[in-house]
Amino acid sequence: MTRICGLLTLVTLAWPVSAFAQHDKALVEHGEKVYAAQKCSVCHSIAGKGNPKGLLDDVGARLSADEIRMWIVDAPAMTAKTKAPRKPAMKAYANIPKDELEALVAYMQSLKKK
Ligand code: HEC
Repeated sequence: MTRICGLLTLVTLAWPVSAFAQHDKALVEHGEKVYAAQKCSVCHSIAGKGNPKGLLDDVGARLSADEIRMWIVDAPAMTAKTKAPRKPAMKAYANIPKDELEALVAYMQSLKKK
């Protein structure tokens, strides 16, 4: 009985982790497409591609998911809050569909390279 219980625990513990990791990967890939479609690289650069004044290579290590989400939906507020001096300032992507927003946030969070 203990053995079966142990096995069940293993299965229930391991399964959601791998399912989550796969879901995460798909989300990040979706986010990469949204980033390209929204032309974020006009002002930002990832892995040497885009505008070198706005490096996002390590943004996932510097900002929380909430902060990244705030930048996307209300950049003017974050510009004021962080006193970001760069021009042109980022506009709010307030009408971005929720699934695209979450995909973008997941993509930004995956960027942790120094
Ligand atoms: C018109 C130029 C412009 C565009 C287009 C733009 N941004 Fe920005 N963004 C900025 C500026 C300016 C800042 C302030 C920080 C800086 O100077 O990089 C900023 C900051 C950010 C930050 C916080 C960065 C940090 O280092 O703290 C994130 C995340 C971000 N932008 C994501 C995006 C995403 C995702 C898109 C596309 C949906 C986008 N931006 C499009 C100009 C832009």
